[in-house]
Amino acid sequence: MFKITSLIIGSFFIVLGEANANEFLLGKEKSKLCSSCHGLNGNSIFPLTPKLAGQNVDYIVNQLKAFKTGRRNNDTMKLISQSLSNIEMFALATFYSTQDSNILNGNALLIKKGKEKYSMCWGCHGNNGEGPGSYPRIAGQHSQYTTQQLNNYKKGVRFNPVMNAVVAELSVIDMEALGAYIATLSPD
Ligand code: HEC
Ligand code: HEC
Repeated sequence: MFKITSLIIGSFFIVLGEANANEFLLGKEKSKLCSSCHGLNGNSIFPLTPKLAGQNVDYIVNQLKAFKTGRRNNDTMKLISQSLSNIEMFALATFYSTQDSNILNGNALLIKKGKEKYSMCWGCHGNNGEGPGSYPRIAGQHSQYTTQQLNNYKKGVRFNPVMNAVVAELSVIDMEALGAYIATLSPD
């Protein structure tokens, strides 16, 4: 059993590369600061606390910096990100990016409507919400969190020129439907 476990862990680190293995371990250790809200492996169980599992590294680092500087507003995340160095942010992002995201299902009618609206989104977020490059992965995210963030962009309390423009076209129902559909996406 021990051999098998170390073999699995060993090959995981070979895939990840040696430098990243150190980041992963530091990130895993630091994630204890986050797990009460974001879950042990980044699968939060709270609908307005985003899942971080499988999120891309660049996006996580970028958002932690945005909370730290106040570019993105959230009191809790502001305090937490202020306690993190750049190295720790990168380490946390490396850890969460390697975790598997769980998928939940929702209301079938909303999901269907959301799927139609998703034609406005896949150009950047990917066919299955995988978020290529530095675009955020949105697949499998809590529907309430996604809908809330779309509302935040619409109300102008979260700033991003691209997303602020995208949501201008969306109604309240559209944003709910998109949240429901995106929650069912699984790129893995
Ligand atoms: C007390 C609860 C709490 C703790 C502890 C916490 N977070 Fe958060 N986090 C939140 C909430 C709530 C949000 C959503 C903020 C919003 O609505 O903009 C969030 C948002 C985020 C986001 C943005 C994700 C996205 O999809 O845009 C990142 C990244 C993040 N947290 C990382 C962390 C890390 C790393 C830690 C630990 C060092 C941590 N958080 C600890 C509650 C928490
Ligand atoms: C032209 C590119 C582009 C298009 C089209 C686009 N997005 Fe985005 N989206 C982005 C970028 C860039 C960000 C990161 C913004 C930031 O840092 O706040 C983002 C962020 C988001 C977030 C926040 C993710 C999080 O974890 O907090 C959600 C949710 C989202 N987009 C949903 C959508 C939906 C739904 C659509 C279609 C209606 C869409 N986006 C269309 C580029 C795009």
